[in-house]
Amino acid sequence: MVEYRDILEKSKKDALYGREISPPHVKKDKCIGCGLCVDICAALVFELREKKSEVIYGEKCNACGHCWAICSEEAVTQPQVITTTSLRPGSEPAVSADSLQLLIRERRSVRLFNDNAVSKEDLIKIINAGRYAPTSSNRQAVNYIVLSNQQKISKLRSSVENFMEKTFKMMENRAIAFFYKMKYGPLAVDLLRHYAINYQILKTRKEKKAYFPLPFGSAVIIVHSQSFDSLAQFNCAIALYNCSLMAHSMGLGSCFMGFVQIGINMDKKIKHWLDIPKGNQAYGAMVIGHPNVKYRRLVERKEPNIRWL
Ligand SMILES: Cc1cc2nc3c(=O)[nH]c(=O)nc-3n(C[C@H](O)[C@H](O)[C@H](O)COP(=O)(O)O)c2cc1C
Ligand code: SF4
Ligand code: SF4
Repeated sequence: MVEYRDILEKSKKDALYGREISPPHVKKDKCIGCGLCVDICAALVFELREKKSEVIYGEKCNACGHCWAICSEEAVTQPQVITTTSLRPGSEPAVSADSLQLLIRERRSVRLFNDNAVSKEDLIKIINAGRYAPTSSNRQAVNYIVLSNQQKISKLRSSVENFMEKTFKMMENRAIAFFYKMKYGPLAVDLLRHYAINYQILKTRKEKKAYFPLPFGSAVIIVHSQSFDSLAQFNCAIALYNCSLMAHSMGLGSCFMGFVQIGINMDKKIKHWLDIPKGNQAYGAMVIGHPNVKYRRLVERKEPNIRWL
């Protein structure tokens, strides 16, 4: 068997995590040997020896902080997770199930905004909601690009429009459409044509409001991550969804922008302009602004398709 310690050199681990992670430390005099840190650590860093917790595989720590968060004796520390906040988990979850369910249902895509700018402070607050989303192996490899300058947002909009127009045009070519169907499945072209119709209708409207592919919001947040990681997409998606919930709770509106995401990844010029590293892909884009609308009613969605095994 290959000794994992040969593989997990410190430099490689730092590169994989994009940050330095120190091993945890156990204060033996405080440890009562309850074994909770041993059981909770998914990286299997500790072992209980002579009724005290001991750090055996410190280099495997991913700084999730579970050991520090769970120890009743404050006997275990991990430098990267110690927080200065005085906030603590309450005896009950911070939000009731009913409130959370309502928040989830209240959050709707907002595409109509007024001209008020979203402050940098608020954008940081929103991104901090993404920051505390879980990530696979706690890699925290979700990166954010924020466009809050209207000229840059316009440039992004027109670049994505150009990309879309080219793509829709290609679908008029039967050979290319056939190739697309073969590559992406029988409904791929129909879906693109469906979007093409929406785009054509909007183009004919004089007043540009809920504009496709990018409405007139105050800011755009793009999340990107390394494409070698097959969980990067999931990590980015949940982080951005957290951001959208936070935006809603702050009285702001947001909408995920699928075509912006696709345009960035498929048009090298856009990706280059945004300075997204070569090995990275955009896994989400979201427009944010002050809503010009208020939804008065909740809506129904279809019953979930569940297969119980
Ligand atoms: C996409 C994704 C995949 C994950 N896969 C695993 C897994 O296979 N096994 C596991 O124990 N934890 C898994 N986790 C949990 C992460 O390790 C965990 O979210 C991270 O360490 C941060 O801890 P927290 O969720 O307690 O904040 C996964 C998390 C995400 C977001
Ligand atoms: S959780 Fe704390 S007290 Fe319990 S074994 Fe670990 S370090 Fe010791
Ligand atoms: S911070 Fe997480 S991974 Fe590191 S030792 Fe503690 S529980 Fe294990």
